Amino acid sequence: MELIIQRDKEAAALLAARIVANELRANPHAVLGLATGNTMEAVYRHLVRMHREQNLDFSKCNTFNLDEYVGLAATDPNSYRYFMNKHLFMHVNIKLENTHLPDGRAADLGAECRNYEALIARTGGIDLQLLGIGRSGHIGFNEPLSALRSRTREKALTPTTIKQNAPLFGGEDKMPRRAITMGVGTILDARRCLLLATGEEKAGIIAQAVEGPITSMVTASALQLHQRATVIVDEASATQLKEREYYRWIFANEPEWVEYR
Ligand code: F6R
Repeated sequence: MELIIQRDKEAAALLAARIVANELRANPHAVLGLATGNTMEAVYRHLVRMHREQNLDFSKCNTFNLDEYVGLAATDPNSYRYFMNKHLFMHVNIKLENTHLPDGRAADLGAECRNYEALIARTGGIDLQLLGIGRSGHIGFNEPLSALRSRTREKALTPTTIKQNAPLFGGEDKMPRRAITMGVGTILDARRCLLLATGEEKAGIIAQAVEGPITSMVTASALQLHQRATVIVDEASATQLKEREYYRWIFANEPEWVEYR
């Protein structure tokens, strides 16, 4: 795992966007795994700007989002399909038919999950998976006790996650209790994983995920098993990391990061 500390939220999001953009430039047919949530808004803002200013081309790529709420239609402003259209897809030259999210309104949710996995495989697998981390330690909606080999499935949300996301719905009682999510195993199959966390409220859970034991209680810790996982945090999210001086040294000195410094 690589850990990169950036001075603030904006710099962290810009670095994540540059890594995604470079993946796309190196491989215009890339299959991108995408995430939603507050942390990702700044990343998509930078990608949209790069499309406008630098002709970053999305026309040949495919995307697969991590998750979607059960019961929400694509037109619902709280659905993740709506979020993706609003923050990214409508502003770049991506073909909408190449953008994929699980359908939270499918009549047979089990079949929907199996089909989603099959479609990812048929498309060639995910080249770069973008991730946020929830206060429960989740990646996607892989809440505590999610099997570290889990595949796309329906998952009940924890009280912590309901509390985290309820403000967007105008209250906990209005929020769905279930979601479809890629499994931890699905995420670990991506050729590269890139997790972004910003803000002091993520400092404790980031320290557990990166420096704590691998445990299904904090599913982001499963990234320790991945051969190419990069975690980007801002200073506020880095405060509880014990080895932060070592991580800073690596970023400042390893040749691989020279173009990003
Ligand atoms: C969203 C997702 C979640 C979020 C996480 C952090 O697609 O998969 O794991 O990345 O809940 O959300 P924010 O960025 O809103 O703190």
